[in-house]
Amino acid sequence: MDSAKSRRCSLSQSLFFPFLLFFSNLLTFYLSSSPFSPSFFSSTMTTDSVDINPTPSLPPEFSAFTSPKPLPLGYNPNIDSSTLHPPIGLPCLQFPKELSTYLSYTINSSCPDDELLAQKLLLKGCEPLPRRRCRPPSPKNFPEPSPLPQSLWSLPSDSSIHWSAYSCKNFKCLVERKHSKAFDDCKDCFDLNGREKTRWITPSSNALDFSIDEVLSLKPYGTIRIGLDIGGGSGTFAVRMKERNITIVTTSMNFNGPFNSFIAARGVVPLYVSISQRLPFFDNTLDIVHSMHVLSNWIPTKLLHFVVFDVYRVLRPGGIFWLDHFFFVEEQMEEYAKVIESVGFEKVKWEVGRKLDRGMEMREMYISAVLEKPLKNSW
Ligand SMILES: *[C@@H]1O[C@H](CO)[C@@H](O)[C@H](O)[C@H]1NC(C)=O
Ligand SMILES: *[C@@H]1O[C@H](CO)[C@@H](O)[C@H](O)[C@H]1NC(C)=O
Repeated sequence: MDSAKSRRCSLSQSLFFPFLLFFSNLLTFYLSSSPFSPSFFSSTMTTDSVDINPTPSLPPEFSAFTSPKPLPLGYNPNIDSSTLHPPIGLPCLQFPKELSTYLSYTINSSCPDDELLAQKLLLKGCEPLPRRRCRPPSPKNFPEPSPLPQSLWSLPSDSSIHWSAYSCKNFKCLVERKHSKAFDDCKDCFDLNGREKTRWITPSSNALDFSIDEVLSLKPYGTIRIGLDIGGGSGTFAVRMKERNITIVTTSMNFNGPFNSFIAARGVVPLYVSISQRLPFFDNTLDIVHSMHVLSNWIPTKLLHFVVFDVYRVLRPGGIFWLDHFFFVEEQMEEYAKVIESVGFEKVKWEVGRKLDRGMEMREMYISAVLEKPLKNSW
C-alpha cells in the first residue's frame, strides 16, 4: 500500500538518511564525549537540531541508542575499536513516522502497548528494532507456567497473555478459529488436540509427509541433537523433538495471535526474528533445520536464495535441512528447484506433489525434501 510512495521517496531518502544519521551521530559523539555529557538517564542530541528535516524528527531515544559509544576502557582489540555502534536495521530510517512513534516513550517507565506497530516496523525491514529503556507491562495476574511435561500439550492460562494486538481475546477463540472462514496464519495451530497432535508422528499415505522418526533414522542415532524450526507456528515440531531429547529453537512472528508467548508457555524456545534476518547462529553449528510452509513462493526469489545459503551456513557438515511442504505454482517449479539445488546440498529425499486444498485449477505444488550438507566442503 505504501510501497509506491516509499519507492518515490526512496532515492532521496537513501542518500539523505545515512547522511543525517552520520551527521547526528558525529554531533552526539562530540557532545557525549565532552565534559558536559548528559547524565545516565537523560537523553542526548536529537535530530531536530539538524535543520534540514522534511520528515518527522526522531525522538531523543533514537540517537541515545544509536549514537557511537566510546568504550570506557578505551581501545578493545576484540572489537578492533574504541567505540561501540549499537545497531538497528538499515531500513528503519525509511519509516521515520513509525520509528518516531516506537521511540516516543518515557524512559524508565512502562512501554506503550504497541506490539502491532513494533511488528509491522520489524517486518518492513527495521530489524533489529532499536532497544528501548522501558518495561513491557506484564499481563495482570500472570500465573506460574504449567510444569513440564504437562506444559508441552496444555493451553496456557488466558491471563498469561496481553491480548490487545490480536482479534481473539482468549485461547478458546484461538482454538475455535480453525472453523472460521477468514484467513489467519496457522489458524488451526492453537488446537493442541486437533491436527497438531498427529503432525510428523502418525504415518501418512502421502509421500510429501515425512515423519520425524523417519527423518531422524537417516542419521546415526543420537547425532541429531540441536536445531532450528523456521516459522514453526505454535511450536509443535520443537515439542515433538523435545520428547526425543532434541533441542529446537522455533522462529515465529505474532501474526494475529500470541505465537511467541504460546511457544514459550509450552516450554520450548521461541525466537522472534523474521525470515529476512540473518540467522543468529554461528557457522557449522546446528544438526537440523526444519521449515514447513513459511519458506514458499511469497518470498522474493533472490531473498530465498540468501535464506537457503544461510541455512547451509548454520548447519554443521552432515547436518540436515528438512524442507517440509515448500509450496509454489507449477510454472515456478524450475525456478525454485534451481534456487534450492544451486546451494550445494545433497538430496537425501525429494518428493514433488500437487497441493490440492484450494483445488486442482490453482495448479499449486509442494516439494518436501531432506537435504544434507556435505561432510567435506573445505577451503
Ligand atoms: C526507575 O524506575 C524504578 C522502578 O519504577 C524506580 O525504582 C527508580 O527509582 C527509577 N529510576 C529513576 C532514575 O528514575
Ligand atoms: C530422554 O532423556 C531422558 C533423561 O536422560 C531419558 O530418561 C529418556 O529415556 C530419553 N528419551 C528418549 C526418547 O530418548
